[in-house]
Amino acid sequence: VVDDDGLTRGGGRRRIVLFPLPFQGHISPMLQLADVLHRRGHLAVTVLHTARNAPDPAARPDGFDFVPVPDGMPAAVAASDDPLEKILAMNAAMDTSGCVRDALASILLSATEEQQPVSCLIMDTALPAAQKAAAALGLPTVVLHTVSAASTRLYRSYAMLHDKGYLPAQEQELNRPVKELPPLRVSDLFDPSKHPDQESANKILDGNFRTTSNSAGVVINTFEALETPELAALRAELGSTGTSTKVFAIGPLHELSAIDAAASSLQEQDGSCISWLDTQAPGSVLYASLGSVIPVQKDEFAEVAWGLAGSGVPFLWVVRRGLVAGGGESDPDLPDGFERAVEGRGKVVRWAPQREALAHGAVGGFWTHSGWNSTLESVHEGVPMLCRPLFGDQPVNARYVGEAWKNGVLLMEGEKKLERGKIAQAIRAFMDPGEKGDEMRERAEELRRQSAACLEPGGGSTCRAVDELVDHILSL
Ligand code: UDX
Repeated sequence: VVDDDGLTRGGGRRRIVLFPLPFQGHISPMLQLADVLHRRGHLAVTVLHTARNAPDPAARPDGFDFVPVPDGMPAAVAASDDPLEKILAMNAAMDTSGCVRDALASILLSATEEQQPVSCLIMDTALPAAQKAAAALGLPTVVLHTVSAASTRLYRSYAMLHDKGYLPAQEQELNRPVKELPPLRVSDLFDPSKHPDQESANKILDGNFRTTSNSAGVVINTFEALETPELAALRAELGSTGTSTKVFAIGPLHELSAIDAAASSLQEQDGSCISWLDTQAPGSVLYASLGSVIPVQKDEFAEVAWGLAGSGVPFLWVVRRGLVAGGGESDPDLPDGFERAVEGRGKVVRWAPQREALAHGAVGGFWTHSGWNSTLESVHEGVPMLCRPLFGDQPVNARYVGEAWKNGVLLMEGEKKLERGKIAQAIRAFMDPGEKGDEMRERAEELRRQSAACLEPGGGSTCRAVDELVDHILSL
């Protein structure tokens, strides 16, 4: 379908429209995907985005069009800590207002006038309202999963998990292995019955399931060597539903894309931590970040602070606005005396250039909430992880790190509350594990090599998948 310089044979370029969910962990991979398709497939790009959490106009990539739509969230929902409520409210408002349909219709019209017909809408799986709007206009959709292939598969397994009695989870069964989805255990499953609003949680899972089933392609930010059995199973399962939806493993997107991290960052990155890392010994620093969405309770925040302080290990800690529950979007107050206690050994920033920090030679370990982007960024840099997942797909990622890939360990697994003494001890054991740590570091290094190999031009699995994805998009 494509000639040498990426133009369709009929002349005129093709355009794609992309619509991310407006959270950091979703915006970044979507913009990275846009950049990859723009450069590799010569596709023209329109990014549809909500007016709230819009990508910074000053840092937007050249040549992309940006079209805002209102998210329609009531103020109380926008201010809440619950991402599921936000997702449902956005979808409901978009359905009611028709704003996505109107925006798409106008993009389709001007694209036709400019002889850049739109191939498809590439959208976040959590936006069924966008898929409905596209379908009404006859526009095919491709979904981007910003989670792993294992989580993508898990989200399609809820009927089985209920049928087989894994869910609703019973307290005494939390350690039970889910033998259909190894290495997961019951405690790793997102359990809608434990969510304050069970119906909302089920609706999100259902929406996710439907957008994937109804799509013309599934893009996952992962790579073949990392999730070989999970990708094979997912392909078999999607094929067996009769939709034969193609699955493209095109990660790690952050490395494949040339887009500047600032272009997709919703917060200003504090580069001073990189010069601070320059002053630290190789492999000595624990980088700690608890993600961008879920807050921690105030008492846990204090335990984390004093755990870091008590460990004696040098650390770089991201304390973002809104990290502490109940504080809104304000900067959390560090506990009294904390800064004095860690002077010279600990650095706290509001937001770090994370990828640069993980790539820095001084960083020897990553205390992570096990968000998928963070996990993949750490895998790519070969940094072992100390995992303390908070929500959603994060326990799945942590389980894979601890048991399948063995490039990290879980922090205080099974214990509901963090405790400073145990944290300090766990950090010391993680950063200086003696011979026990050899396997973890070897595995981290092996995965780093595999991640680099999948990006090899020509032969790497990710590069091949990108070419296949471009062909697929042009065939729609
Ligand atoms: C959420 C879910 O938690 C995650 O599991 C899902 O896969 C995507 O949505 P989030 O909490 O934002 O993600 O975590 P993560 O997926 O790790 O994404 C965070 C992003 O913010 C990463 O790309 C990371 O590099 C970036 N970041 C984080 C910074 O650039 N600076 C920081 O200081 C902290």
